[in-house]
Amino acid sequence: MTRLTVNADQSGETIDRHLFGHFSEHLGRCIYGGYWVGPDSPIPNTRGIRRDIVSALRDIGIPNLRWPGGCFADEYHWLDGIGPLAQRPCMVNTHWGGVTENNAFGTHEFMDLCSQLDCEPYICGNVGSGSVREMQQWVEYLTFDGRSPMADLRRANGREAPWKLRFWGVGNENWGCGGHMRPEYYADLYRRYATYCRNLGGNRLFKVACGPNGANYRWTEVLMREAGPLMDGLALHYYCGSGARSRSATQFDEGDWFAQLQRALQLDELLRRHATIMDQFDPGARVALVVDEWGAWHAVEPGTNPGFLYQQNSLRDALVAGISLNILCRHCRRVRLANIAQTVNVLQAMILTEGERMLLTPTYHVFGMYRVHHDATLLPLAVSPPAYACGEASIPALSACASRDAAGTVHLSLCNLDPNRPLPLTCDVRGMIPETVSGRLLTSPRMTTCNTFEEPDAVRPVEFADVSPAAGGFALELPAKSVLVLALE
Ligand code: AHR
Repeated sequence: MTRLTVNADQSGETIDRHLFGHFSEHLGRCIYGGYWVGPDSPIPNTRGIRRDIVSALRDIGIPNLRWPGGCFADEYHWLDGIGPLAQRPCMVNTHWGGVTENNAFGTHEFMDLCSQLDCEPYICGNVGSGSVREMQQWVEYLTFDGRSPMADLRRANGREAPWKLRFWGVGNENWGCGGHMRPEYYADLYRRYATYCRNLGGNRLFKVACGPNGANYRWTEVLMREAGPLMDGLALHYYCGSGARSRSATQFDEGDWFAQLQRALQLDELLRRHATIMDQFDPGARVALVVDEWGAWHAVEPGTNPGFLYQQNSLRDALVAGISLNILCRHCRRVRLANIAQTVNVLQAMILTEGERMLLTPTYHVFGMYRVHHDATLLPLAVSPPAYACGEASIPALSACASRDAAGTVHLSLCNLDPNRPLPLTCDVRGMIPETVSGRLLTSPRMTTCNTFEEPDAVRPVEFADVSPAAGGFALELPAKSVLVLALE
């Protein structure tokens, strides 16, 4: 029997709801054929944006949306995406399939999408192939309320009032697709670009610098040393890949399951070590560690364009999401903004579409279940999980996180990583005697189960009531390969 203690009588940091953010790039069928169907489409839409997608994302409380990339951001020229559609120039999306981008979805459409979603925009500006002036003008176009060339241009394009805009990225992966820069060089560029991203009127930007690729600790050190005082966030990217032998999203064995979850767990060490470096320069944690791209990266679905990164999403991806979100929450002192990649039809998506049909993935359901942690207070918990062994290697079988919301309800998110064995658990709750414990459980008979257009509800949350009273708290058996979120009242 595993014993888990939740310290409901102690107070921790706030779990910023922006840890549950999303990312949508001009890539494959994320924007075009995803959100954007155009105003003349027979698919129900509001000003060209699919209503079913908006409604589904509102249901999980999407807090922010990062756009337009990704690698695309550093070759995107925003002026091409405003004004009458017929006058918007085309470009080639060289990173993603070499397709022609007609710029039908630009700044106004993105800000409209965010307003329909009731989420905050997070825009990533172009450092790799753009100019300081171009970035400066984009901020002015979006946020200036007085008379100015850019504010007047915005008005001429039909938008009188400036938008509220907080999250602003200064380049993307500038160590790679965003210019293959050395950290010293990018740090200087960051200082220069960020200087001209002005706080105009009452608008205050939260400026995010390009951060490290995975375990590149030197990047974090150089950026914090050379540019720390000028940034609000430093963006780490971490993709936990796929299986060990098979990279298929749907056809894999236990070795692949294990390897994938083992890599998902490595996020914890990355956050700890990057945060330790940041602590040396910024002991008060003013600068956030941002994880604005994370998730699983499988082979594309057979027969689809390799440049479109369209992958299915199984129960294994739900576990990746549950584990990763638990880790992000536990690091909420330093990590205050994060974005899973990517929302619709790309990588570890929430939503897949096929023509007018749409389905919600297992990952979507985890985000829905974890909504209870948004802006809640992190509660310390103690547990020594049993090992889940596969071959010679082993990982902890349990991932957990606890929080208390504004109404005083304690929520516990639990993942059983072991696909074969249920995990008997007793929970001691210090400082609280729960009168009721209710929950929602996500699991399926097979590791590989996913939602398909033929069977869209194969993996979906169900009520969980199998909880019995125990000394100091309660006891339950956490089913094998499952994600469970409990409410303690
Ligand atoms: O999310 C897909 C790509 O992964 C992004 O464009 C890039 O930033 C990262 O390498």
